[in-house]
Amino acid sequence: MSFESLMRPQKVLLGVGGGIAAYKSAELVRRLQDRGCSVRCALSRSASAFIPPLTLEVLTGKPVVQQEYLTATGSGEELHITAAQWADVLCFAPATAHLLARLALGLADDFLTTTALAFPGPVLVAPAMHEEMWAKEAVQNNVARLADRGVIFIGPEVGPLASGEIGVGRMSHPLTIVEAVASQAPGLSPSPEASTKTDLAGRTVLISAGPTREPLDPVRYLGNRSSGKMGFSLAAAAARRGARVVLVAGPVALETPPGVERHDVTTALEMESVLARWAGEADLIVMTAAVADFRPKRVAAQKIKKGQGVPVLELVPNPDLLSGMATTAPRALRVGFAAETENVEENAQAKLERKGAHMIVANDVGRSDIGFRSDENEVTVYRSRGPSVFLARRSKNEIADHLMDLFSEELHHRDHRPADTAD
Ligand code: CTP
Repeated sequence: MSFESLMRPQKVLLGVGGGIAAYKSAELVRRLQDRGCSVRCALSRSASAFIPPLTLEVLTGKPVVQQEYLTATGSGEELHITAAQWADVLCFAPATAHLLARLALGLADDFLTTTALAFPGPVLVAPAMHEEMWAKEAVQNNVARLADRGVIFIGPEVGPLASGEIGVGRMSHPLTIVEAVASQAPGLSPSPEASTKTDLAGRTVLISAGPTREPLDPVRYLGNRSSGKMGFSLAAAAARRGARVVLVAGPVALETPPGVERHDVTTALEMESVLARWAGEADLIVMTAAVADFRPKRVAAQKIKKGQGVPVLELVPNPDLLSGMATTAPRALRVGFAAETENVEENAQAKLERKGAHMIVANDVGRSDIGFRSDENEVTVYRSRGPSVFLARRSKNEIADHLMDLFSEELHHRDHRPADTAD
């Protein structure tokens, strides 16, 4: 990479395949532009059924090349050659199974594939398709072929698919794709979300997130409405600040934040045993999970049938994972979350004591505009040391950053306090 190329905007040719994830290409264009890239778009034959070319044309301020490029351009110009010479990076997002097959075979039956053949630089591919399709040997062979030739794959991720099922096949988040482009095109402006803080470097942060599910029989469970968003935002914030982050997640449909080590669990008991593996190493433990307080005493081996009468559920208590951390991680800074529907302060203060925690982040889940499933939150942090801190309503990502400021300050304080004041 020459000095000159670092000074000029990076040019990204975005090839959009014909899949439902094509609607995300508009955001991808914006995010690339945020980082100083000059972007042009080209659509495969069927992509315009999913994203109107005009949207991309207005966003990029440039004509969008479609299949009709094969008709006369009026200038005698060979568009695929000029495009291949113009671009620094060629990125296919979303890449369908069909597009992968055409790229793997080296077909040149439209603008995208012809340009790919003429392009000498880095090619990135963000596949998106149903899980069954992604797993097919035919598709995996094409992926392996392309990877062998140096094509860089981004995702696909686990998450909700167009079919409504959850599985691997979802296109990576536009920000993840931008990071991959940035790795091939040095000189992009820093991400607006990139933290310049490295105050958690060298720390291990253990986070629990999401709900737990307690099975009743092979098809039913007791669960709750936690989305896991707050815990995932905290994990992302801690990783950005340089921490090693271990995230233990109940069943949620969220992408793993970059740089985070994720372990999926289902029940409270599984969550307890996975958390125990890292508790001893953790400097900071943040328990955002909505752990079920009770589980069915017996789990039926077969589906409970209507004909057997109305079942009476006998429940037994689950262990309190946060309280248990006072024994398994006595030196760690331990933070709990309290979801309350009334008497928020009183209940949060009581939990602080009862659970041996250093901080309780309390929110009022009775409100529909914040808390469960919402992207926003408003919280008050009750502390064993110091007054409470109110964080007014804002995005969960911003709340996460402010909370990390508080946790980081407290870790710093604990590093420098006299040994005989340790708890
Ligand atoms: N928590 C836990 N294990 C449990 C229940 C809760 O670790 N079995 C943790 C949660 O992760 C959270 C904190 O304890 O950090 C408070 O959770 P909350 O559900 O508000 O508290 P509960 O103890 O369940 O109290 P209550 O249901 O009476 O409000």
